Amino acid sequence: MKLKMILAATLMAMGLGAHAQQPLVIKLSHVVADATPKGQASIKFKELAEKALPGKVQVQVFPNSQLFGDGKEMEALALGDVQIIIPSLAKFGKYTPKLQIFDLPFLFDDLAAVDRFQASKEGQALLKSMEKKNIIGLGYLHNGMKQLSANKALNTPADAKGLKFRIQSSDVLEEQFKAVGGNPQKLAFSEVYQALQTGVVDGTENPWSNIYSKKFHEVQGFIMDSNHGILDYMVITNAKWWNGLAPDVRKALDGAMQEAIKYGNKIAEEEGNDYRAKVIADNKAKVLPMSKENLMAWRTAMKPVWKKFEGEIGADLIKAAEKANK
Ligand code: LMR
Repeated sequence: MKLKMILAATLMAMGLGAHAQQPLVIKLSHVVADATPKGQASIKFKELAEKALPGKVQVQVFPNSQLFGDGKEMEALALGDVQIIIPSLAKFGKYTPKLQIFDLPFLFDDLAAVDRFQASKEGQALLKSMEKKNIIGLGYLHNGMKQLSANKALNTPADAKGLKFRIQSSDVLEEQFKAVGGNPQKLAFSEVYQALQTGVVDGTENPWSNIYSKKFHEVQGFIMDSNHGILDYMVITNAKWWNGLAPDVRKALDGAMQEAIKYGNKIAEEEGNDYRAKVIADNKAKVLPMSKENLMAWRTAMKPVWKKFEGEIGADLIKAAEKANK
């Protein structure tokens, strides 16, 4: 009996026990294409995590809403059916009203300002704002500035009047389009192309990498260089699962994720314009510049949205974010 136990212990120590050979499977699900900052960061995370923990982990990446789409992915994370997801910050309204700050129109001048705010004390605290709901934020990831698009040119806010706009599931974005007389409709990302194609909606807003990789420019006549808001993400995981990992595994996974985020952010910063150029080269939608005056008119029309959400978000937090514009 004693010999049997010693043998079993020796086999375990050598990694030959029945369980020792099973790698930890980590499912990472997201809704965009591989050829986007988020798609590329996810693939990089798989590569780095499996390299750091050889044979110990297996990362399975599911892009394009293949495993879970909007609406279902948060539930799946809570149930442990997926371990890491990377939703847009516009999709956290139900979990913490503070993250709505990222949807305020014309708040951030550019991605560098977003970076500065996210690195600040206030920005870092937001990563922990959902721990009571069993969600841990491992970091922020960029996509880019959003551009307005529609089946007609949107030069001034008056041009948006009466148009139906697809929006992410965000109350701030709903108010943003109402402020210019539009009719916003919350739709999952996987439904956008068809909704634009069939005229269920007339327009939308998204950064260049999403527009190009999902071919929205093929079903929209006009895309404005509006840069009126940002689309950014939080990489999140199930807190119970994460805290239950062996400390060395957790540390290695965190290290791999921080590197993958840096990699994705670099793509977002350096290649945003390439996706724009590809849309122009495809020659399907007209890409129109926005004059300073017209941009100011959009800014003025949308600005009242800030006041509406100041109570939920916090005036101090908005001030801290504004300070990040230099
Ligand atoms: C959208 O729904 O438009 C975006 O949040 C999709 C994404 O993940 O970039």
